[in-house]
Amino acid sequence: MLALGSIFILFVLCLLVVQLVKLQSQRRLYPPGPTPLPFIGCLWQPKFFRIHRELLTEVAKTYGNIFTLWFGPYPIVVLNGFQAVKDGLTSHPEDVAGRPIIPLFKAVANNTGILLATGRNWKYQRRFSMGAMKTLGLGKSILEYQIQEEAQSLVEMFRKTKGKPMNPSFALNLAVSNVICVVVFGRRFSTEDKTFHHLLEAMEKIFKVPGTLTHTLYDIFPGIMDCLPGPHKTALCSRDFVWAFIRKEIRKHQDAGTQEKGHDFIQCYLAEIEKMKDQPKLPYNEKNMVQSIFDLFLGGTETSSTTLNWGLLYMVLYPDIQAKVQKEMDTVLPPGQTICYEDRKKLPYTNAVVHEIQRFSSVIAVGLPRYCIRDTMIQQFLIRKGSILLPNMASALYDPNEWETPLQFNPNHFLDKDGNFTCREAFIPFSLGHRACLGENLAKTEIFLFFGNLLQTFTFQLADGSKDIKLDPVWGGTLQPHYFEICVTPR
Ligand code: HEM
Ligand SMILES: *[C@@H]1O[C@H](CO)[C@@H](O)[C@H](O)[C@H]1NC(C)=O
Ligand SMILES: *[C@@H]1O[C@H](CO)[C@@H](O)[C@H](O)[C@H]1NC(C)=O
Repeated sequence: MLALGSIFILFVLCLLVVQLVKLQSQRRLYPPGPTPLPFIGCLWQPKFFRIHRELLTEVAKTYGNIFTLWFGPYPIVVLNGFQAVKDGLTSHPEDVAGRPIIPLFKAVANNTGILLATGRNWKYQRRFSMGAMKTLGLGKSILEYQIQEEAQSLVEMFRKTKGKPMNPSFALNLAVSNVICVVVFGRRFSTEDKTFHHLLEAMEKIFKVPGTLTHTLYDIFPGIMDCLPGPHKTALCSRDFVWAFIRKEIRKHQDAGTQEKGHDFIQCYLAEIEKMKDQPKLPYNEKNMVQSIFDLFLGGTETSSTTLNWGLLYMVLYPDIQAKVQKEMDTVLPPGQTICYEDRKKLPYTNAVVHEIQRFSSVIAVGLPRYCIRDTMIQQFLIRKGSILLPNMASALYDPNEWETPLQFNPNHFLDKDGNFTCREAFIPFSLGHRACLGENLAKTEIFLFFGNLLQTFTFQLADGSKDIKLDPVWGGTLQPHYFEICVTPR
């Protein structure tokens, strides 16, 4: 019995040694990084359970700005700081345009749609969606007019609170989501609509998972996690709810017939399916349409509304900056005229504040992973086909080589010595390269207009109950502020 036990232990030890040797030789193929162990990679150090900007920046101090983290059995090449992120995403953009189909992404999207897809399918969906967004007037006055309508509705929601303490996040989420609804469904929802509320709650539950410990465990042990309850299961149920919601809207469009074309994303997509009917090999089908729409919600709601939520928090914490924005708008804009996107050119300070809100809140916690579709060089490193890249976008927004006071909310980052607006190269909240954010123009327009309209109409103050609010974020798919309440006073 004892002998059997010893043989077993010896066997396990041998296995570990073999794995260790194998791992050592594999490591030589990748940039340097913290020592991994067989099977668990760097996760023997609990701090790597949750990847975040500061942690990666700390590791970069030891190993350089391009390093490898072994995530369980998978090596991930991290790009840290503006220069490494820029070189990695733009030197050979085609090589790094893949998305790794990690177990969580596969469970959510199964390589359909845009955001979580890769290869040929991604290429077709992305190309089509970019074209459709252009047709639908992205960056044109039609869409801006609709954003204005939404901004007015947001102002009314705030006015109704009559100065009582409130948390702005739900109202912001309603307004931002309605903009995407106009783009994809061709209509907005009443802010009281219960099914619309369910849609937003579902999106929120989906957003709770990425970047958390549950996500880490899911990617390493998908089989086991599939059998366990938890936030990942809730997220997948919510995904089904959103799919059903989208399918219902598609049915409505189909029932309405094809008299109208090109007014919303669904009409554009249905027309494309019709047009490509005799080329069944092309990936234009209902599955991809549903997931592409899902992705526009996934990419375009939580990000923008969280940015605005942070924006209001900064304004109540830095009332002098709030006052300066309002003074600039009062001086430049004729009385009674609502702000439009073109006005940003006449409002350098306001524009600088809006950019600084995006930089400082850095709502995308780290960045989305990329996949190398062929061998590529990043700076002096050969990165092999099949490697997963993690560009730490947030570290560029906080890079001490690029920003005068990275850890401070400081609109001067975007102003030159004459007080004119200057954009900065390291301002990359929307990422770079072939997979850069598809909604960048839409996001910039809506953030500027919502923020501008609100500050034109109200003065914001921190509610008494929230005086000890801290600026550190709550973790999830996006970096959220802690719960806080504000009061609005009409100006
Ligand atoms: C503050 C607002 C926003 C921020 C900070 C943001 C940021 C990002 C980032 C960092 C990526 C990843 C790019 C990469 O893989 O390197 C991305 C992708 C994407 N975003 Fe946004 N985004 C915002 C708003 C929007 C909006 C409004 C939409 C919808 C119209 C949108 C749709 C997408 C889509 C579809 C992708 C996937 C692109 C691809 O994989 O090819 N985003 N976004
Ligand atoms: C995922 O996609 C593959 C190939 O497109 C398909 O065969 C498979 O049934 C899909 N899986 C699920 C769960 O939908
Ligand atoms: C910068 O600002 C000054 C004064 O505010 C203005 O006269 C000048 O034209 C601006 N320069 C540019 C390049 O816009």
